[in-house]
Amino acid sequence: MRTPQHVVSYRDLIDIGLTDVLQRTKDIKDDVLYMRGEPQWPDSLTNAVVASLFYEASTRTKLSFESVVLRMGGRLIGTENAEQFSSAIKGESLADSIRIVSMYADAIILRHVSEGAANEAARFSTVPVINAGDGAGEHPTQALLDFFTIWERFADSDVTLTVVGDLKNGRTVHSLLALAADLSGSDLGLVSRVRCVAPAALALPQPLHERLTAAGIDLAQTDRFDATAVKETNVLYLTRTQKERGSVIGSQAAYALNESIATALPAEAIVMHPLPRNEELPTWFDTDPRARYFTQAENGLFARAALLDTLFQHP
Ligand code: NCD
Repeated sequence: MRTPQHVVSYRDLIDIGLTDVLQRTKDIKDDVLYMRGEPQWPDSLTNAVVASLFYEASTRTKLSFESVVLRMGGRLIGTENAEQFSSAIKGESLADSIRIVSMYADAIILRHVSEGAANEAARFSTVPVINAGDGAGEHPTQALLDFFTIWERFADSDVTLTVVGDLKNGRTVHSLLALAADLSGSDLGLVSRVRCVAPAALALPQPLHERLTAAGIDLAQTDRFDATAVKETNVLYLTRTQKERGSVIGSQAAYALNESIATALPAEAIVMHPLPRNEELPTWFDTDPRARYFTQAENGLFARAALLDTLFQHP
């Protein structure tokens, strides 16, 4: 039996062929949003059964995946709140659950509270495992839609990416920055400068810091989120404090978008946020033309459709 193509890490996106997946995302987006007549979703999931296993809360990731599975002709099995409604509550190991579910489905979308869970699942699954977030670890499909959102706006440019907030436990930032580091120097090496804005207690993990520097990305860190921090920014990526992972922020207001920061942010910049948002991203900014977070969430549909299409067309 061939080893299934898992998507456990941002690294798997590169191995699968990121350029093709980005282009496929754009094509699907164009077909669905801009074609006259019926939206055109790929039908590569016809007759496929996809398992959706969520051991941790989710709105966008879960529902966007499930929406595209259905739109692409597939069917879903699974459970939200898998911690309570699967045999996990009876003490079954993740390994055993995955061994069984992979007999019942053609792919498994897994979100779990523990870092490394997706990797563990991939070891026991005979079908592709897609990591929909594992604790403070990774969130590769979020990195895909985030990178797509940057790429569709800034392809061929030299991007300064400013990440703000909980850089310690925010897995979306981990996957996006690791992806940017590994793409540096390639045709997709759009991100040349990364500016980290976080309180010392929630700073970017040192290994990631070293990875970015080793990749030749110009990296700077500050604990002050102010007008100076965003002056040269193309992409401002805000994040919430991951309280459920023990993150504590002294002053949430000190890491929130405010009017003086919005004024200093260049007119051509975009503001991203993986959502859900708390205080760091006030709703008054929603009507600003630089607000890109709802488009970013919508891009999650097209990016996940493109990824599934790639996995199911070339299993
Ligand atoms: C993120 C996550 O789950 O990591 N949400 C998402 O998938 N869009 C961000 C977060 O929870 O803060």
